Amino acid sequence: MTSPDVSLLAHGLASRPGREWWRSAVIYQIYPRSFADANGDGIGDLRGIAAHLDDLLDLGVDAIWLSPFMTSPQKDAGYDVADYCDVDPLFGTLADFDELLAQAHGRGIRLIVDLVPNHSSDQHVWFQAALAAEPGSPERARYMFRDGKGANGEIAPNNWESVFGGPAWTRIVEADGTPGQWYLHLFDSSQPDFDWSNPEVWAEFRRILRFWLDRGVDGFRVDVAHGLVKAEGLPDYTPHPEGGSMGGDEADVPYWGQRGVHDVYRDWHKVLAEYDGDRALCAEAWLPTIEKTALWVRPDEMHQAFNFAYLETPWKETELKDVIDESLRDYAAIGAPSTWVLSNHDVVRHASRLALTAENPQGSGVGPRSAGQPIPELGLRRARAATALMLALPGSSYLYQGEELGLPEVIDLPDDARQDPTWFRTHGEKYGRDGCRVPLPWEASAPAYGFNDTGAAWLPQPAEWARFACEVQRGDDSSTLSMYRDALRARRAHGLGLGALEWLPAQADVLAFRNGEVTVLTNFGATPVEIPEGSEVLLSSEPLAGTAIPQDVTVWLVAAP
Ligand code: NOJ
Ligand code: CA
Repeated sequence: MTSPDVSLLAHGLASRPGREWWRSAVIYQIYPRSFADANGDGIGDLRGIAAHLDDLLDLGVDAIWLSPFMTSPQKDAGYDVADYCDVDPLFGTLADFDELLAQAHGRGIRLIVDLVPNHSSDQHVWFQAALAAEPGSPERARYMFRDGKGANGEIAPNNWESVFGGPAWTRIVEADGTPGQWYLHLFDSSQPDFDWSNPEVWAEFRRILRFWLDRGVDGFRVDVAHGLVKAEGLPDYTPHPEGGSMGGDEADVPYWGQRGVHDVYRDWHKVLAEYDGDRALCAEAWLPTIEKTALWVRPDEMHQAFNFAYLETPWKETELKDVIDESLRDYAAIGAPSTWVLSNHDVVRHASRLALTAENPQGSGVGPRSAGQPIPELGLRRARAATALMLALPGSSYLYQGEELGLPEVIDLPDDARQDPTWFRTHGEKYGRDGCRVPLPWEASAPAYGFNDTGAAWLPQPAEWARFACEVQRGDDSSTLSMYRDALRARRAHGLGLGALEWLPAQADVLAFRNGEVTVLTNFGATPVEIPEGSEVLLSSEPLAGTAIPQDVTVWLVAAP
């Protein structure tokens, strides 16, 4: 077990009851395959990440979250794990991971890893053993195997659909060559669901938690944290055709938000509590309301839960005010922070999403034939204003790699480059998530924009991305990167993450609040807002020409000296 690194304390991340680091941290999501590629094979890797830690230190984040880098056939970009306690050779070795963790801690940056407990890969030894074993065997009992319906078991056990499209059941061929049982997969057929009513599964995940905690990780982002437990008897369920497939809870969906799932996190909470350094769990749980999401962060469960209700709120001041109010109220009621987020590897990047011109259900993605194409300049302007607003709120915030560069969703990926299982399972009806996963541009004129030095990239980077390169933006005070860096410095200096929000009266179309000594104004309307006399601009999401705040701009103000 590692002891907390002294440099973490020096960095201002010391934990004390009520001021634990995860209450206020800004956590930067790294999607390893698209961040930086050290060996030039076109897929990002752990050494690539280590080589850019100084960029993250300069940006000013408190922690990083790594999307899965464990052994995996990569059918769902690593969310199909074959060995939870090893590194996939694509990304490096366990020694590379240990080195990365030491390097991050040495810079005062915490690191959390992704844990995927709802399902494994079909290449996991347990699933392979289950296929080889008999129906009713202990090997089968670790997953959700069932006999089919119909005279010959030819009908799936129920009507559930995969989140990625198509049926959630696949029939196997038994070892003797006859058509056999079916197994449940809420996602791709290569991702069989574990059976969380089996104590062996509980014991195995305790072991996996300890494996990473012993190496010194600061916590876990928990994948599909609302999905592990399924309703007794696996009753039929037909999702609403317009509805997103990831959301819901026990009130209406038999595989999301079942009450028993909380016992798992109470168990894990105790495991983490055995370790020093305030290790944390963050829930990826798509639930219908903030009140319900808050159940995941009760004092003896997880520490954070992504505020997806906030992420899904349109760029409208009344709706944003309501969701912020409700979040602060519902999380405060149980002593938890709100965990704000605007982008991740599953949603349309907010520099495009906030300027879509038609409804676009979460998970559909945007492609060249989608209705409601976004307006790029408007999207970036709103994204910068939205980020400046988010980073002024009390609580923790997650950033997704590339948003600090203002990257838009890549809409015109060629069809034959797409890799998301959603694209295949819906036969091209939904574009899926590749557009937010394109490798990052670091330098304007290097091969693959500095993603590596060979020019290979697992998804093609757009020709116009030179202007978004980190190197180009670093020296430009008006760039998106500079705005993020300035915001993170000011947020830390003014203690905004641990602060409290007080709304201020404001004209129509304006959100105004105070957090400690900082006043925050966002103008959503066409009428410019005068900066109050006696204040000084600490941060502006766009360069200001005069003394007024134009439309789609956020400013942070402090009293003039
Ligand atoms: C949520 C992850 O964020 C997503 O990328 C993945 O496809 C599903 N869970 C399945 O693991
Ligand atoms: Ca590589």
